[in-house]
Amino acid sequence: MCGIVGYIGKRKAYPILIKGLHRLEYRGYDSAGVALINEAGQLNVYKAKGKVAELEAFCAEKDTEGSIGIAHTRWATHGEPNTVNAHPHYSESERLAIIHNGIIENYAVLKAGLMEQGYTFKSDTDTEVLVQLVEYTQVNQHVDLKTAVQLALQQVIGAYAIAILDKTHPDTLIAARKGSPLVVGIGENEYFLASDATPIVEYTDKVIYIDDEEVVSLRIGEEVDITTINNVTKTPEIKRLELSLSQLEKGGYPHFMLKEIFEQPRTLTDSMRGRVNVRQDNIALSGFIDNKDRFLNAKRIIITACGTSWHAGLIAMYAIEEFAQIPVEVEYSSEFRYRKPVINKDDVVIAISQSGETADTLAAIQLAKSKGAFIFSICNVVGASIPRVSDSGCYTHVGPEIGVASTKAFTAQVVALTMLALCIGKAKGTMTEEQYLRIVRELGQIPDKIERVLGQNKRISDFAKTFTYAQNFIYLGRGYNFPVAMEGALKLKEISYIHAEGYPAAEMKHGPIALISQEMPVVVVAPHCGTYEKVVSNIQEIKARKGRVIAVVTEGDELVSKIADYIIEVPQTEECLTPLLTVIPLQLLAYHIAVVKGCDVDQPRNLAKSVTVE
Ligand code: AGP
Repeated sequence: MCGIVGYIGKRKAYPILIKGLHRLEYRGYDSAGVALINEAGQLNVYKAKGKVAELEAFCAEKDTEGSIGIAHTRWATHGEPNTVNAHPHYSESERLAIIHNGIIENYAVLKAGLMEQGYTFKSDTDTEVLVQLVEYTQVNQHVDLKTAVQLALQQVIGAYAIAILDKTHPDTLIAARKGSPLVVGIGENEYFLASDATPIVEYTDKVIYIDDEEVVSLRIGEEVDITTINNVTKTPEIKRLELSLSQLEKGGYPHFMLKEIFEQPRTLTDSMRGRVNVRQDNIALSGFIDNKDRFLNAKRIIITACGTSWHAGLIAMYAIEEFAQIPVEVEYSSEFRYRKPVINKDDVVIAISQSGETADTLAAIQLAKSKGAFIFSICNVVGASIPRVSDSGCYTHVGPEIGVASTKAFTAQVVALTMLALCIGKAKGTMTEEQYLRIVRELGQIPDKIERVLGQNKRISDFAKTFTYAQNFIYLGRGYNFPVAMEGALKLKEISYIHAEGYPAAEMKHGPIALISQEMPVVVVAPHCGTYEKVVSNIQEIKARKGRVIAVVTEGDELVSKIADYIIEVPQTEECLTPLLTVIPLQLLAYHIAVVKGCDVDQPRNLAKSVTVE
């Protein structure tokens, strides 16, 4: 979603800001802009619809001087994605310029009040209202910029990360956040500001994560000044970044998505490191050990997440109920937060989020927390909002996921949740020692087995070409592989724009079978486990109606290979771990279909990596 970059120091700000915007492109956006104060004290704002490259082209002949500036990639919420609505926005007198990530929910009321005072508006955005409100406060209450920002934000309902320049104070950059992320990077006599650490990492590894309702003032030669919007002084906590520049490069792959698919053997090893012991006979998750009683006494576990993370949650439901025998409910965060759910003090709520910033998931856990539930989060981005408001949790440690379509984060979430299910099951005594050991040992084999699946990339790429004609796809799976079917369908939708739906295989007869014809490709996830024979019957039903079947099967399968049109084999593994293998070909299939169709795989249209508005 929207990306924020800011710089104040001795260097030329423009190249740093533009590079920063490129680093944030993965978040998803539809326009971009930059504001700079030059030596003469002029505040220049430049904006363009489309990609950052179009902003650069627009700025080529412009004055881009100045060592203080802010820049933005906008993902449209209020007002269509055009140049006028792009950020930065000037205030009425053009003394201030603002960039904003989030939504000001009461913008209409605020705007009406300002219009009564004679303020005029050029854009349809909520953001322009905020900068006008700050200027109005500055002028009418005779206060400095920081105080005006504090007072304005006290009137705001909604979410924001903002950065503001004032051309009458070219030595100060003011920023604030509530609900949307913001990080300050501390260099030598210079400060950086960004929505996440990716634009900052090549300049410094010292960062401060700004908290909700905090206002930060950055001035050269002065310490970082942080207060709340109610002017309570806060002590900045400087953290060290664990991120390297190479993690943000494609490393020879044509797309980040393909790189991230291929990284999975390593990322899963990283996720298990220090948790699965070297003898591969025990799992130690500190977030579980420190809160064992909460899990053991839980009458119910509620899992809340969105999109791909929700699919990981569904897989966890199968594992937790099987191993720990605790009832599990899996909720879309967006529904959970508004449907007045019954939440008890002895409930454990597990929030799953790659980014750790998803607005609905954040709100869902805040609701659950207010009712006394214990919050455990599974997150990839260290220091993000969701882990910070959780009682405990487990980082997945897969490094930055840049491709908008989640791949390596998904498999790591499944691994983390499986480890948690095994920890609870063992501690509760609801699984046998033999079963526990078998699965823990097999977990250690998964990275090598994924490597074998990746070996089929070329073949998948070859037959993917056959399916670029398709307008629709159906994905089927059962048990642990029903969520995999949904995840495969989501991947295809997101990056190839082909309509695809995932169903539990047995549901096909209750409706989707009407769609089957020779035009309809059906991907069936059919590894050799539990309901295998029943899934084989489903494949026969599809073939009887001339559907084209791509089947994901266990190595050596003889039955399905005779009837399916295309076969992708995965190694044998424990049933609960099959999703870690069966999802890989589905990621590759979606990727190759999208590439052949000429789609923008890493930045699909309309999508955002980090959905910071509801
Ligand atoms: C995954 O491919 C999607 N881009 C999307 O569904 C994503 O999983 C969802 O928005 C949740 O994001 P989160 O894990 O960062 O909370």
